[in-house]
Amino acid sequence: MKIAVLAGDGIGPEVTAQAVKALRAISANNGPQFEMAEAPIGDAAFNQHGDPLPPSTAEMAAKADAILFGAAGTYESDLRPAEQRGGHGLLRLRKQLDLYANFRPVFAFPELLGASSLKREAIEGVDLVVLRELTSDIYFGTPRGRGVENGQRHAWNTMRYTEAEVARVMRAGFEAARKRRRQLCSVDKANVLETSQLWREVAIEVARDYPDVELRHEYVDAVSMHLIRRPRDFDVIVTGNIFGDILSDAAAMLTGSIGMLPSASLNGEGVGLFEPVHGSAPDIAGKDLANPLASILSAALLLRHSLKLEAEAALMEKAVRQVLAEGYRTGDIMEEGATRLGTEAMGDAVAQAILKLKG
Ligand code: NAD
Ligand code: IPM
Ligand code: MN
Repeated sequence: MKIAVLAGDGIGPEVTAQAVKALRAISANNGPQFEMAEAPIGDAAFNQHGDPLPPSTAEMAAKADAILFGAAGTYESDLRPAEQRGGHGLLRLRKQLDLYANFRPVFAFPELLGASSLKREAIEGVDLVVLRELTSDIYFGTPRGRGVENGQRHAWNTMRYTEAEVARVMRAGFEAARKRRRQLCSVDKANVLETSQLWREVAIEVARDYPDVELRHEYVDAVSMHLIRRPRDFDVIVTGNIFGDILSDAAAMLTGSIGMLPSASLNGEGVGLFEPVHGSAPDIAGKDLANPLASILSAALLLRHSLKLEAEAALMEKAVRQVLAEGYRTGDIMEEGATRLGTEAMGDAVAQAILKLKG
């Protein structure tokens, strides 16, 4: 089983190293063996090879059984033209592999209820998934560009969806809801945008094949409020690329920290990509401060969805819960009375817990 490890920039390499540690712990003592190979992506790749997604990286990723990704981009490169931007390497990889369904599970660990900035009563029992469309929308629509007209700089992007693009992610949403509490909330801005009107029409059409799932529609602005006010009302949220990007960062706070949110990007057939929802966090990079649990939980999703190793995935998640229950915390989820660990030590604690659970 081949895993392409693309650690990228900032805290990407720091947290990915802990996920690799956890995978090695799964392999120990006659566990499943993984062939892990690293390749450059992001600013690191651009600085070294002049391309944030070198062809050799794209090829290696496409041939792997799964991709473990860290983070790409820095504030310095974010404002450059696309081909010089670390984050653009990630966007190209998602597009090339047609990874249209990005699952971002948001689970309020009972052990972490006190670590959130929100009240315990508000977040207790939260268990939802943001399903973000990942290969279309304003991220990829053309025309796009910048120019000068009448002596003024102007810039334009195009929000665009085809019905096929909406239908396939909608189906993924219904299928996911079927395996959960059978509630699908489709999020759009149909009171303003034609793309959202199409989104809603297609949602209603696809729903005919899923009479056992309850479909409702909500506007993205209202959802950004309801997610904080009544987060338990959500089971699966399906939404477009840009709305999903924004809503999932907000939803991260229901878990206590963006450092807790994993993701799986899938297309139902080929290779899957697994990455924490957070970015390269330049403010804490290189300081052993980053929370590696989002990356470790992404490795668990990799085991479950791409390698079909459900027992091992569940074991890795159980190890994370155990470490939290024992009171170990990184700074972002620190609570009174807990034991503060750095990135490395947290990775070690999870790996130890995995080994112990395996017996
Ligand atoms: P960010 O997610 O990197 O950081 C936001 C805040 O959350 C920061 O204060 C950071 O310290 C904190 N944080 C993030 N991950 C954490 C972790 N694991 N543990 C503890 N704290 C954590 O978002 P940003 O600051 O908006 O972006 C930084 C750079 O990362 C930018 O260049 C951006 O383009 C890029 N980015 C990349 C990805 C990706 O690769 N998927 C995602 C988001 C942002
Ligand atoms: C994410 C990130 C990326 C996105 C950036 C780095 C291009 O914010 O994965 O959530 O906007 O998709
Ligand atoms: Mn984002």
